[in-house]
Amino acid sequence: MAKIIHVGKGSTSYKVIVSNNSLTKSNLKEATKSSRKILIVTDSGIPKAYLKSLKENLGKEKKVYVHTIPMGETSKSFEEYMKILEKLAKQNFDRSDLLIALGGGMVGDITGFSASSYLRGIDFIQIPTSLLAQVDSSVGGKTAINIKQGKNLVGAFYNPKIVLVSTSFLKSLKDSEFSSGLGEIVKYSYLGNKKIKNILKNKANKVIKRDSKIMEELVVESIKTKSRIVTSDEKENGIRAILNLGHTFGHAIEAKCGYKNIPHGQAVIYGMQIVARISFLEGLIEKEDYIEMDEILSSLNLDTNFQQFKYTEIRKYLKNDKKVSSGKLSLILLNKGLTGYKTDKFDSSNFSKAFKIN
Ligand SMILES: NC(=O)c1ccc[n+]([C@@H]2O[C@H](COP(=O)([O-])OP(=O)(O)OC[C@H]3O[C@@H](n4cnc5c(N)ncnc54)[C@H](O)[C@@H]3O)[C@@H](O)[C@H]2O)c1
Repeated sequence: MAKIIHVGKGSTSYKVIVSNNSLTKSNLKEATKSSRKILIVTDSGIPKAYLKSLKENLGKEKKVYVHTIPMGETSKSFEEYMKILEKLAKQNFDRSDLLIALGGGMVGDITGFSASSYLRGIDFIQIPTSLLAQVDSSVGGKTAINIKQGKNLVGAFYNPKIVLVSTSFLKSLKDSEFSSGLGEIVKYSYLGNKKIKNILKNKANKVIKRDSKIMEELVVESIKTKSRIVTSDEKENGIRAILNLGHTFGHAIEAKCGYKNIPHGQAVIYGMQIVARISFLEGLIEKEDYIEMDEILSSLNLDTNFQQFKYTEIRKYLKNDKKVSSGKLSLILLNKGLTGYKTDKFDSSNFSKAFKIN
């Protein structure tokens, strides 16, 4: 049975449909009913069978174009963005037409940003294929591309028309990409979702095996948590910032690695371990709390070796963080209830200590 989660408020609210296979003819017919032309944007790493079945189920009544970009974060670029816009313009797409993002967060972000800016905004549908995209990037309306000066520096808040999540796509993910998405799921267990924490603590074996029932439950619960937060704060003026738990240090680690050889979610895993330790050093949580986090991560076979990085090599990347405002860094820390909260009151000498404690 498909689960439906409602996200957002007013005229820009949208549904997220989650099931083993959400790309049914009827879901697609309903989602695309007002468009004559569709451009599917995907990347070279997405199994061709997914594109084929999407095209088949869209039917023959619409004119369907496909634009494939090279896989990898470097494609979330101005050049690839321009190619999408040029294709839309060349095929005379108008405001009633539609973009579909079929892929992970990279495809979702660049497609969403193209949709937000072409003709000052045309509709787009998110069909997330990676675990990270299913539980995080396809929901919440953040779209972006990277520029030389930094990741996600150019973008827009722009909600999709609908998100269609098929958990069967998770089977073909590489282990490293699956782990990257699990990192975000662990994050939701520290943003108040007790159901997720229970599953992670008691059914780690099934999670590792990508058991379809368990994965569907984790995806639905993650989206519910993200939806609750982004609906109450669509443009990140307040509570939404807690979704950045682990991201300040995570982004700095990604920048240090040149955005290569480290999936986003893996960097967030290291970032969460670091902020859990800072929270302990600030007297906000107990030692057993960050040890518990380490144990959950390890039981999911996730890489917890954040100590391969030194604070001295990460420090310079922290100041480029988007969360720096008026020269002040705000950080999401954990409190006694083990939920994230935003603060700019901390002792930054604890940063270097956090990298050293086990
Ligand atoms: N907009 C947001 O709110 C938000 C939130 C978090 C992350 N992001 C962005 O998301 C991006 C990371 O997303 P990602 O981790 O999905 O990376 P990605 O989109 O680069 O996908 C990772 C790899 O997995 C492959 N892949 C995707 N689905 C697959 C499947 N079902 N089977 C086999 N291979 C598959 C892709 O081809 C790619 O090679 C980053 O650009 C990050 O900035 C955005």
